[in-house]
Amino acid sequence: LGAQAARQAGGGLIETTKSIYDALGERYDRWTVVLGAVTPLARVRKRIVEQARGEVLEVAVGAGANFAHYDRSAHVTGVDFSEPMLAAARKKAASLGLSFTGAIADAEALPFGDATFDTVVCTLAACTFAHPERAFAEMRRVLKPGGEALLVEHVQARGALGRALLDAIAPLTVRSLGCHPNRHTEQTLIASGLSPVRVERALGGVLLGIVARGEGTAGA
Ligand SMILES: C[S@@+](CC[C@H](N)C(=O)[O-])C[C@H]1O[C@@H](n2cnc3c(N)ncnc32)[C@H](O)[C@@H]1O
Repeated sequence: LGAQAARQAGGGLIETTKSIYDALGERYDRWTVVLGAVTPLARVRKRIVEQARGEVLEVAVGAGANFAHYDRSAHVTGVDFSEPMLAAARKKAASLGLSFTGAIADAEALPFGDATFDTVVCTLAACTFAHPERAFAEMRRVLKPGGEALLVEHVQARGALGRALLDAIAPLTVRSLGCHPNRHTEQTLIASGLSPVRVERALGGVLLGIVARGEGTAGA
């Protein structure tokens, strides 16, 4: 992503998030393995990602944390705006024997035509997008009619205590991971034209596994 495009896509926020992930690279994957082991994250990832079918796009693919869950016959196209993250993803795909094509791209302006993919996967990334509503609208645009968006995201807590906790840690997680832990991502998804057809709620409702379709698409 060029500096000018970065400014247009969200100014300082997007540049800061990109530099955080450029610095993390492969180390991010180790962190997500630990998080998966101490929370329901690994289980939810597996259940959601193994539903991917046909031509698959993974948005904000990171270091390839979902790769073990794809069917080995799948071909996965993955985009991320961080080259070090994408390099880690390519390495992981090769080690797992997954057919993978990685490209540098902004989730908020995907370089693909309308109705290109059967499945769009996006996990733990809406919390980092400068404009999640733009990224969701792009996911909807590139999905074929009847295609599915498979998402794993963490969201703002429902209870007052949980909300206060996530609001309190937000400045720290934004600074260290570009992660906004208190977003209303399910509502943003729906407002962007993607309708959840199945939602799994874990960790007291803070971690969501979502299967969604574009409104008005065949079979929705
Ligand atoms: C928390 S990591 C999640 C990585 C992976 N999806 C996972 O589940 O582990 C967020 C990823 O989103 C990427 N990202 C954030 N904003 C982006 C954008 N606008 N376009 C493309 N990638 C973006 C970051 O570079 C990073 O790899």
